[in-house]
Amino acid sequence: MLRICCVCLGNICRSPVAEALLRQKFIEAGYTEGVDFVVDSAGTGDWHLGHPPDRRSQEVCARYHLDISAQRARKFTAADGEKYDRIYGMDRNNVDDICAIIDAKYHAKVQLFDVHEVNDPYYGILDGFEIMYQQLEQAAGKIVLQHHKD
Ligand code: 4NP
Repeated sequence: MLRICCVCLGNICRSPVAEALLRQKFIEAGYTEGVDFVVDSAGTGDWHLGHPPDRRSQEVCARYHLDISAQRARKFTAADGEKYDRIYGMDRNNVDDICAIIDAKYHAKVQLFDVHEVNDPYYGILDGFEIMYQQLEQAAGKIVLQHHKD
């Protein structure tokens, strides 16, 4: 079973969407959650613990029939380094923060979700969430395709 954790700063904008898209695409590819894979998300910061995703992330997902309203923000912990096989940061700051939290022996599990950084849309332009969604959607598709070959 492949265990994946998607990580951003707040766990309310980017990583809940990344988590939901990976889940959707693994299921579409015929994999069973809890048997073939598990996917989760977390934030390196603790401002939004227990909060649902940002309204703008919920809206962009709803536009594509993806319901992320039940997601609640949690903090990424040192124990997650052992628990997951792959830990995806959205940007390089996330990768650095993840590596500061987990033991160095797990650093090889950490990579960017996409070849390009997924920028934080929190304080950004109005269509930043749509751009974020499109980038995450493409990148999630590549991750699932890569898994077929593994
Ligand atoms: P996220 O976006 O890391 O994609 O969840 C952010 C949400 C909140 C904050 C920063 C980034 N914040 O500073 O509160």
